[in-house]
Amino acid sequence: MKWDFIDEYEAWAFKLSLGLIVVFFVAVVGLAALKGIDVPTCVTEFKPFEKGELVQLGPKEYQLKLLARMWSFEPREIVIPAGAKVTVYTTSLDVQHGFEIEGKAVNLMTIPGAVNKAEIVFKRPGEYRIVCNEFCGIGHQTMYGIIKVLPEEEYEKWREGSR
Ligand code: CUA
Repeated sequence: MKWDFIDEYEAWAFKLSLGLIVVFFVAVVGLAALKGIDVPTCVTEFKPFEKGELVQLGPKEYQLKLLARMWSFEPREIVIPAGAKVTVYTTSLDVQHGFEIEGKAVNLMTIPGAVNKAEIVFKRPGEYRIVCNEFCGIGHQTMYGIIKVLPEEEYEKWREGSR
């Protein structure tokens, strides 16, 4: 194609920009396809709920129904053993909130009337804070939760004690 309607250098800059867009597009789409990364969407197989709870599904498998509302998460604190795989379903009772776990690659919206899902494995013991990362009103900064991941032995002791 002839590019004589603009300056020669301008044409090169334009072609370079165009080329980079193609390179980035191919890189993003290609990597996503290669690694099986999907664009997050709301799940339809799970109905919105009005009570937050942690349910144990197997020895190290949990389902967390995390409810966001102005201005707290329910449940506020959960305790799980190291190595636990947690499937989180999250929704909101009022406005749109954010759901982020510090130190984990999880960042979802909590949307009234819809449910979002994430699967997270907690290999390392420690305290992981759940924070709302969407400004949701006057108490936004008080909106957090804690996931306590205990080493296996400590977890067993805790479980005995909490019965
Ligand atoms: Cu909920 Cu910010």
